[in-house]
This record gives sequence, C-alpha cells and structure tokens, in this order.
Amino acid sequence: MRRNDAPQPFQYQGSKRVIASAILSKLDMRSYSLLVEPFAGSAAVSIRAAMEGKVNSLWLNDANEPLIDLWNAILHDTENLIEQYTATWAFQKYDPKEYYGIVRKRFNSHPEPADLLYLLSRAVKGAIRYDSVGEFNQSPDNRRLGTRPAELARRLRKISSVMKSCTFTSSIDYRDLIHRYEPGQVWYMDPPYEGVSKQRDSRYVSTICRDEFEEFLGHLNDQGVPFLLSYDGRTGEKTYGQPLPSELGLERVEILAGRSTTSTLQGRDEQTVEALYLSPVLEVSSLTGEDAGAGQMAIDFASEDYARAS
Ligand SMILES: C[S@@+](CC[C@H](N)C(=O)[O-])C[C@H]1O[C@@H](n2cnc3c(N)ncnc32)[C@H](O)[C@@H]1O
Repeated sequence: MRRNDAPQPFQYQGSKRVIASAILSKLDMRSYSLLVEPFAGSAAVSIRAAMEGKVNSLWLNDANEPLIDLWNAILHDTENLIEQYTATWAFQKYDPKEYYGIVRKRFNSHPEPADLLYLLSRAVKGAIRYDSVGEFNQSPDNRRLGTRPAELARRLRKISSVMKSCTFTSSIDYRDLIHRYEPGQVWYMDPPYEGVSKQRDSRYVSTICRDEFEEFLGHLNDQGVPFLLSYDGRTGEKTYGQPLPSELGLERVEILAGRSTTSTLQGRDEQTVEALYLSPVLEVSSLTGEDAGAGQMAIDFASEDYARAS
C-alpha cells in the first residue's frame, strides 16, 4: 500500500491521512491489541492501521456526537448511508449553494449522519465549525460539489469491510477515557490545536485547555498508558502550537508532512513538519529508513476526487 492511498471517508480539517503511515511506523503494534483514538475526527491513523492489517481492534472516540453517529453509520449501516448521500448529492444540482443551506438547517434541527457527510464533503476546508449556540455554521466551498457518490461508496464499503467487526466507538470527553484504560491499549491522540477550536461550551465540541491537557498527560504517564501524540508543528518559518514541557518525559520526533498546498498557492515553497510525541512506556518500532519516513507531498484533497461545480 502506498503512503497516501488509504481511503478517506470524508474530508476533515486536520486529517492525518498524509502522515498516518509515518506515525504508525514509530509504533510496534505487535505489542498491543487495541488502538484507541480519543480525538478520532476522520480517524486517518486508525484507517491506515486497519488497512495495513496492523491492529486487532480499534476504538474511535470523539466529543462530537453527530460525528460518532456518522462513524457508526459508515461502519454498520453503510448501504443506507450511501443511498441517502447519493440522493442528497443529486438533489443539489439545481442550486448547490442554496441546497447546502437547506441541508445545514435540517442538520441543525435534527442531526443525521448522511447530512453531516454531505456537509463535510462540501464545507470549506472540511472544517466543522459551530456558532455560539452550537449550530453548524461553516459555509460551502462553492467551487466544488463534494465527493461523487460512486467514489464515496467505494471508499465507505472498503472502510466498513475492514473495520466494522473490530471497531468500538464512543463519544465522551477525552479525560473520561482514562478510566477505561486497560493493558493492551495504545493511544494515538490528535487534539485540536490551541486556537482552532474555541467552542468550549458548545453543544457538541469542546476545545482542550493546554494546562489541563498537560496535567492529563502526566496522569497518563503515572498510569503507564502508552501513547503517541500529535501536537505542534511548523510550516516554513511559521510555528503552530507550543512544544510540550520536557518534564513530561516524552520523546519528540518530527515528521515531514510534505509541501504546504496553501503556501504553494501563495507562491512559496514551504514544507510542513509535524511533531509527534512518544510516551516513555511506548513500545517503539525498530524500523528505520523508508518505513519510518513520511508523506512526500501533501495531497490537495480537492484536486483528487472532487466533482467541481461548473
Ligand atoms: C485535529 S481533529 C482530529 C483529526 C484526526 N486525527 C483525523 O485524522 O481526522 C481533533 C478532534 O478532536 C475532537 N475533540 C475536541 N475536543 C474534544 C474532547 N474534549 N474530547 C474528545 N474529542 C474532542 C474534535 O471533535 C475533532 O474531531
């Protein structure tokens, strides 16, 4: 399997698809029976691990309940979800912009997985944004109509066939997962970057407070939880997130995520480098070289498989 070809169920801001393989290459998965993603999002790392046959079982958790409902539909109600998405996608043809607004309104009054799938497929940057009263308010990207149903169906069937019998899901705050830790688990964490998510009191999604998160990492260490954590990084000269304090005893490695498409569009040739922290008790892989490498070129999701609006 090439580095970037694990199927993506939906575009998602912050997806780790391009570097999922590089992240997994740091881990000796043979030492663990369950890979837990407390901040699953589009679960790029879990999908990759499942496609490579590296895991016995997976646990996807995300505070965003409608997102976990979508995951449950992808895994266990795949054909129904595809049928509904196909109908929604086809309906938009008369006025894609207005239709997005209709679906968004419907989703805000009654969140259904197929509607969220459509919204994510068309939302600017695949970003989930909620307003102060917890309503999804992200605008559509009017240059695109969203993933074509046939392509989406292919991906969702593939994901479901590989993951449905070995994946647990939950929608709880990451801090509550510590009570469910058992030996055999390994965690991959990709929390929202500081400054990206500010909806602490919103209906669905909370952000993380840095101090609390550092304290939480200390608890994970005390309990001997093995984990990998994506946290900070940089594109060219610009850094995002602050490195974690050395007292936590984490090993910090850098992963080359590829050329930044945003910078390229602005005429700059800049590489993005992402930090990955490894907990002290983690069983690391002894692989080096090619397998420990990273994505070569960040994929512009839009250019890949999106239907463009005419
Ligand atoms: C950066 S995204 C994860 C992206 C993921 N690695 C992927 O490949 O798509 C962070 C996720 O954390 C979730 N989240 C935010 N606050 C949370 C909390 N307190 N507990 C659990 N999940 C949370 C968000 O809903 C979001 O999906």
